[in-house]
Amino acid sequence: MILHWRSPLIIAHRGASAHAPENTLSAFKLAIQKKADVIELDTKLTADEQVVVIHDQTVDRTTDGSGRVNNLPLAALRELDAGAHFGENFQNEPIPTLEEVFEIYAGKILLNIELTNYQTPFDTLAEKVSQLIARFDLENHLLVSSFHPIPLRRFHKLSATIPIGFLAKSGSAGFLSRSWLGRAIVHYHVIHPEKSNVSPNLVNKAHMSGQQVHPFTVNEPAEMVKLFAMGVDGIITDDPALARQIIGTSKSDLFDQFN
Ligand code: G3P
Ligand code: MG
Repeated sequence: MILHWRSPLIIAHRGASAHAPENTLSAFKLAIQKKADVIELDTKLTADEQVVVIHDQTVDRTTDGSGRVNNLPLAALRELDAGAHFGENFQNEPIPTLEEVFEIYAGKILLNIELTNYQTPFDTLAEKVSQLIARFDLENHLLVSSFHPIPLRRFHKLSATIPIGFLAKSGSAGFLSRSWLGRAIVHYHVIHPEKSNVSPNLVNKAHMSGQQVHPFTVNEPAEMVKLFAMGVDGIITDDPALARQIIGTSKSDLFDQFN
């Protein structure tokens, strides 16, 4: 399967997280306003096995609470303020559930759902996400990614028609994921490499294998220009407005402006 989405894609990392608190409804709304093509968001399970949208394993950095997400029930997580850490204008933003995101955004924008059960890869996150996607009939509106092959393999077994993105860490930590072995272990359609590992060779090899390339997390204009020039199929960025501006600028102007 080849991903037939518009290219290059602007993928808003945790929403428009440069200008709103990451992984909140405000960040997702802003991503749409700033003309992102896709919203990337991080999912994991609560203690009572509900799917919530939060990046870290604990709530400590992004909320006014403390503790591991998978030790807290949904009701307790929903009491927390996930916006105030970013600025007082965002006070009382809740941690969203994936169901809530689907209710609001189904069909309005493409989604990149990252399975972030990195410490509990055998939990039921893949199953729960697959069920929610089916309930909302969103099979053609999203891709599912992870750094971990196990949740991706589990997800692919359940939802074989949904495109898979394999995330690769930078440098030697991501070497296997970027290699032929990564292709053998995970049946993926898009590679999401750390930006410093993207080269014309990596892009060509992926394209020859029918795979696309979406590097993360690309926030500097010069990096965006360089990666688009290499032929990447999208970038994952905290600042979709900036990426839209770069894409809208003609190639010669770009090189004058940013080199
Ligand atoms: O999906 C790209 C990026 O989100 C992967 O890293 O840690 O920000 O989820 P992280
Ligand atoms: Mg992520």
